[in-house]
Amino acid sequence: MRLDALDPSGIPTHIACVMDGNGRWAQARGLPRTEGHRAGEEALFDVVEGCLEAGVEWLTVYAFSTENWRRPREEVKFLIDFNEEILLGRRDELHERGVRIRFVGRRDWRVPKRLIRRMDEASELTRRNRKLTFTIAFNYGGRAEIVDAVRAIAASGVKPEKISEKTIAKHLYDPEIPDPDLVVRTSGEYRISNFLLWELAYSELYFTDLPWPDFRREDLFDAIHHYQERDRRFGGVAPGG
Ligand code: FPP
Repeated sequence: MRLDALDPSGIPTHIACVMDGNGRWAQARGLPRTEGHRAGEEALFDVVEGCLEAGVEWLTVYAFSTENWRRPREEVKFLIDFNEEILLGRRDELHERGVRIRFVGRRDWRVPKRLIRRMDEASELTRRNRKLTFTIAFNYGGRAEIVDAVRAIAASGVKPEKISEKTIAKHLYDPEIPDPDLVVRTSGEYRISNFLLWELAYSELYFTDLPWPDFRREDLFDAIHHYQERDRRFGGVAPGG
């Protein structure tokens, strides 16, 4: 789908992506799974361009989950190094494009200090940018995020009856991020896989069979088109309905 076929007044503010299918894409070509992640980089930055073109203000991607540590050691090492490589290789161009880079996820002992340093550098460099906020979920799990929020709330000593949905939302990893309007998952899996559990309560979900390495901005525009055809009621009734 072309961008000009979309309704410019109905562009989602926040899109979140589960970039699934890299491993299968590579295996189908007789390549090591890691080549699928490499090919996924091109897809990711085409999607970033698509968001800039369409005026999407927030993009969040699932780069590494709290469950991904269970993958073979070499793949985990590859993903860590690859994330660092992408941050180093792309931060300047993202900065020039007006993109603010942020991270969500647990910063525990398993995340190498060097990668944390790269994350902090990229966030610091781009912190004044406002065109698009590009959030990378690394060592992220939706349940872990809720656990961490509950721990912080308990530690603050607040009275249980004072805890509301707002209290929880304020203690998430990045309380500034609006809830996603649209979640896209590639590669024909119809699961959420522990992504943004609290935040996606009212998100529209879009699934495509395309593996992530084949996904491009036109496919993102397809997803936005489907989103524009939906009737978001947030538990209420449609106007006039
Ligand atoms: C899922 O495919 C994909 C991942 C676990 C990682 C994707 C990461 C990138 C594209 C790099 C992102 C980096 C930054 C800095 C944003 P899979 O391996 O689960 O595929 P499969 O389901 O076919 O096995």
